[in-house]
Amino acid sequence: MTIQETRSTVSEADEPRVRLGLRDRIPRKGLREYWYPVVADAKVPRRKPVRRTALGDDLVLFRGKDGRVAALSNWCSHRNSSLAMGKCHFAGTVTCPYHGLTFDTTGKAVAFLGEGRESTFCDKPNSSIRSYPTTTLKGLVFVWMGDGEPAPIEDDVPPQFFDDRALIQFSEDEWQSNWRVSLENLNDAHVFFVHRNSIELLIQDRRGLQLFLGMGPRRPATKIVKNRALVFENPRFFDYMDTDQARKTAPRTEFQEVYPELGGAKWPKTRFRLYLATVMGLIRRLRPKMDWLITEEEWTGVHLPCTFQVDYQSHIYSRAVTPIDAERSRIFYYYTTFPGSDRRRIFNRLVFHLYYDWKQHRNFSGQDQRIVENVEYENPKEVFSGSDAFPLAWRKFVIECARQSPVTGRAGD
Ligand code: FES
Repeated sequence: MTIQETRSTVSEADEPRVRLGLRDRIPRKGLREYWYPVVADAKVPRRKPVRRTALGDDLVLFRGKDGRVAALSNWCSHRNSSLAMGKCHFAGTVTCPYHGLTFDTTGKAVAFLGEGRESTFCDKPNSSIRSYPTTTLKGLVFVWMGDGEPAPIEDDVPPQFFDDRALIQFSEDEWQSNWRVSLENLNDAHVFFVHRNSIELLIQDRRGLQLFLGMGPRRPATKIVKNRALVFENPRFFDYMDTDQARKTAPRTEFQEVYPELGGAKWPKTRFRLYLATVMGLIRRLRPKMDWLITEEEWTGVHLPCTFQVDYQSHIYSRAVTPIDAERSRIFYYYTTFPGSDRRRIFNRLVFHLYYDWKQHRNFSGQDQRIVENVEYENPKEVFSGSDAFPLAWRKFVIECARQSPVTGRAGD
């Protein structure tokens, strides 16, 4: 594994000047020159197009003659009707519902059913519409949103999508929040405070709980890997919680602190979670020892354009954020396991559908969603604290490292 580190060129001395505007220098509708997850393959029927919006572009998705999902601009070149309201009358095509202009998977107009066989419309230079390269991996359709030639998809999508042994189960959500805010939520220091009553935290043992509790003030240093990812210097920081060796060296934090300004009140108010964590520690000891599942450092943190991963050893937790437009984000959750047998595969499927999808993606991430959807991100004024190191480093990283469009010279709009 070769790891190229690129240090931030925004110096600490610059920070007071650049901090206020950092987020506003990141494109509101997303980074263009990347592959994004857009729709589950199973959600695209055989004979009916589907509409999705990504980075502000309205797309129509339908199946080509080979069965693979293709993506075109949703707006008909004739008079801008929505192709997603049309039908796939002929294999590998989509027909506009208004006058019957029919497009193949390359966006070429191939017939004008409303005008008949004699129509010369398809010969006009602007009769075609934009097509977007697509790739379907593990049942998820990725779309290249860039103006330039597609980058290797392996640079943008986690390696487990290319691993035959991996079982990736996923679900999706729509958040009413700008993608920058949705992504900054990842590796942020809010975990203990926001998620203190989530199942995920209630099943931690004492060291895991204390690690979460101390995570705000004790953020590890970050580094950039291959100009594509922002990770902790200790890439196993989060995974820490699941190894005996790491638990022995985890920082000890006083569970309850006293606040004289609050009349001597303690926070957390009770020691309930600590007692519960003691019990959970006994249960966790029964778990077998496991190896790391993520072997490439660049995939241990937040990766451009939109993916965050944590290696839990039993599985990989991933969250990917696809900008819908400037106000909404589509969140994809991946639950990756390596079953090794058909029985294990069935077991993993049951775990996902009966427990994990709800526990991690609704209970835990639902708490994030409620917060993030109510952040006033159009207000550029923020007052930062030491625990904001990661989101600040992420903003600098995106500004410095995101791919630029060969057409506009910008990372996005
Ligand atoms: Fe599509 Fe007329 S608007 S065929």
